[in-house]
Amino acid sequence: MASARQRCATCCALVIFGAGGDLTKRLITPALYNLAKQNLLPERFAIVGVDHNERTTDDWRNGLHDFLEETVKSGKGEFEAKEIDEKVWGELASKMSYIAGDFLKDETYANVRECLQQLNDRQQLEGNAVFYLAAADRFFGPIVDMLGKSGLAKEDQGWRRVVIEKPFGHDLPSAKALNARILKVLREDQIYRIDHFLGKETVQNIMALRFANGLFEPIWNRDRIDHVQITVAESIGIGTRGKFYEQTGALRDMVPNHLFQLVAMTAMEPPASFDADEIRTKKADVFKAVHPLTPKDAVRGQYGPGEIGKQKVAGYREEANVDQNSGVETYVALRLNIDNWRWAGVPFYLRTGKRLPDRWTEIAIHFKHAPLALFRDTPGGTLGPDWLILQIQPEEGIRLRFNAKRPGTEMHIESVAMDFKYSDWFNQPPAVGYETLLYDCFAGDQTLFQRADQVEAAWAVVQPVLDAWGKEPPKDFPNYASGSAGPKCADELIQRDGNSWRSVR
Ligand code: BG6
Repeated sequence: MASARQRCATCCALVIFGAGGDLTKRLITPALYNLAKQNLLPERFAIVGVDHNERTTDDWRNGLHDFLEETVKSGKGEFEAKEIDEKVWGELASKMSYIAGDFLKDETYANVRECLQQLNDRQQLEGNAVFYLAAADRFFGPIVDMLGKSGLAKEDQGWRRVVIEKPFGHDLPSAKALNARILKVLREDQIYRIDHFLGKETVQNIMALRFANGLFEPIWNRDRIDHVQITVAESIGIGTRGKFYEQTGALRDMVPNHLFQLVAMTAMEPPASFDADEIRTKKADVFKAVHPLTPKDAVRGQYGPGEIGKQKVAGYREEANVDQNSGVETYVALRLNIDNWRWAGVPFYLRTGKRLPDRWTEIAIHFKHAPLALFRDTPGGTLGPDWLILQIQPEEGIRLRFNAKRPGTEMHIESVAMDFKYSDWFNQPPAVGYETLLYDCFAGDQTLFQRADQVEAAWAVVQPVLDAWGKEPPKDFPNYASGSAGPKCADELIQRDGNSWRSVR
């Protein structure tokens, strides 16, 4: 939960543009089901799916049910329920209706308006509606224009909110243009820009760790911290997303959004309250304080063939819909300096890549070394650093690594660990990560959504690297084997400062 305030999901209709797409199937529907199971959906609620394919409402909801069922059977995918509670599903399905229509045609919006009117009359939804843009990003601007033109964005009776998925822009100019375009139709407080990393429990928990404890905040600064390493490693390749990835690459896909959310949560100043704008301002301040990047601060890589978990896998250039000579990066590492009183001189190293040995997301805080004099001549040799590791995926937890004396007659120092796992303490209901985001949107809490200035400030940080890489194609791709820890240039980047990466598992 993002906020300490009491929040409540208000009655509304959820209109999903892209109702036949992957996101609706894999994440939105399971999240709605999980909310329904926990009785967290608004008391009066309706779901309207919009997509270009002709199909009946029954076909649509049966298709969604079949997908959930397959996921439960195969045990693969984000939906982790052991079985589908048919009563819960039945109730959810009874709230669903489907409209076939082109996102660019007036007629579609007239149909949506009529449908909302009928639902309002029947279910007293008070005129409230969320429009969820789960469509391809090229439709974001046009759909918002059409919501404006058709009068659907107007708050005559109830509130109107619009959820916009990632990617929000392709670079700084396009993000600015998209913001300007949608802000002609909507007020900022109607816009919910999603970054699904913020829906992850552990990411939200960083706030609790830092600000609800007396222990950490006093040492959370350049006096005590040597550097920070943020890793988002994935073992998957690009799968069927070749076309998308060829235009995107790892930097755009992961850095100004997901990795920067982790940076902001780690580096932000304590907010004075849980007010959404207060928190979002503090996060934007972090991006604004990042020292301008130069090409020296970033390296890129592309996976070649290799092995993951003893299985042979193809290189990026052999994937479907990928150019045989593609220069698109599937790995990126960056070194950030945050020029403010808390962080000046503390490098933040970021890395993310596909086809690394494991799925592994963590924020690792490296504390300054203890002065060595006392232990200089002890058999333990060099003292290891103290680390605080916030584990985000796959297991959620916090690990503290510190030095201890091994029992015995000698002063032999060894690095030991204290582990906290969320699953040992809390009974977490199954979640796909979109539950909180949807709930917050129904409740009107924008804390976990990105404001226009945050998105632009994040793009502004990476723009110099995008520009430099755009001008200079890589010469050594592929430069890391699938299943390896990444390219050599990433090691060199961090070694320049005398540091080294923690191992990916
Ligand atoms: C998406 C990216 O936004 O996030 C994908 O487009 C990436 O390339 C995914 O795999 C990672 O999210 P998660 O929740 O699986 O860690």
